[in-house]
Amino acid sequence: MHLITVDDTISADRALRLIDRGSTLLWEGDFQNAKQLLTALRRRLPAARGGGFRDHRRHQALRARVLNSLLIATSDHTISLRRAPDVRQACLEAYGRPDGERLIPLRELLGVIGAHQLRHEGIHVEALNARIHPHYGVFAPTRSEYVDLVADHPLPTATVAFDIGTGTGVLAAVLAQRGVPKVVATDNSERAVACASDNVRRLGLDVEVVETDLFPPGRADLIVCNPPWIPARPISLLDHAVYDEDSRMLHGFLNGVREHLNPSGEVWVILSDLAEHLGLRSRSDLLTGFQYAGLRVVGRFSAVPRHRRARDEEVTSLWRLCP
Ligand SMILES: C[S@@+](CC[C@H](N)C(=O)[O-])C[C@H]1O[C@@H](n2cnc3c(N)ncnc32)[C@H](O)[C@@H]1O
Repeated sequence: MHLITVDDTISADRALRLIDRGSTLLWEGDFQNAKQLLTALRRRLPAARGGGFRDHRRHQALRARVLNSLLIATSDHTISLRRAPDVRQACLEAYGRPDGERLIPLRELLGVIGAHQLRHEGIHVEALNARIHPHYGVFAPTRSEYVDLVADHPLPTATVAFDIGTGTGVLAAVLAQRGVPKVVATDNSERAVACASDNVRRLGLDVEVVETDLFPPGRADLIVCNPPWIPARPISLLDHAVYDEDSRMLHGFLNGVREHLNPSGEVWVILSDLAEHLGLRSRSDLLTGFQYAGLRVVGRFSAVPRHRRARDEEVTSLWRLCP
């Protein structure tokens, strides 16, 4: 890495030229001015121009490379720049115990600070009439329509339910609050397991949270899964909750679920059809996946996403499947 120290005297145009030539910039000026420089760099980058999903991702990767080239030095999670915020708690939550010197892209650091605020304040989830506190790097239930699908859909008779890929634990919490006597939630991300455990404890709900790849031991009467819904390679930490390369989790889930389901049980798969609109998976691929796993579709209930970045035609469905 060709590291150059820069400060408040640098213009955004010069910074961009240095980055274009392969340099990484270590900021030594005022912290708030660094934020302004980042905003100015962002404005100078070309906007995405139409194109397909792959063009969009290439464009995003290019933006990330440029914007991640402005670094801030921290020492034991402390920034010693003028007008710098106290980021000790935010960094502790994102990176663990202080471990000396770190150079962090300012863009990432701002994400860490934002995640700390979100974790502290939580997100009100109407279906739970309570707040869910997402941890850094864990999929946050800022979309509510999929939670409502699980909250509103008539429950089959279930003594045991599994929530596979639980994230913040929001769906497991909904199932427990709806009265399922035993709920087991799993995730293969350590951060998600800590986060879900924290949320169910705050809510006073009796949910067992297990770190594992897909299924916990035993069988359930109801198995719920809201898998990452875009079949493409994850790049960033958060991508793992949204991108599922070659639909590995979805197919792993479908192909293993019958072994963990009681014979009269039900499977609920929550899935946005965004991948279909992007041309990354066809509806018939999905239906073939269900069929191949020995599952019949016994119902499909849909909701239109209300979140800001939803595409007009995107629909999220709860697929009810039975062996
Ligand atoms: C779209 S998020 C859903 C999170 C949560 N269930 C919700 O509805 O808000 C997908 C989750 O699946 C988890 N995941 C991905 N692959 C997994 C696997 N093989 N086993 C367990 N969890 C997995 C991710 O870590 C992520 O938390």
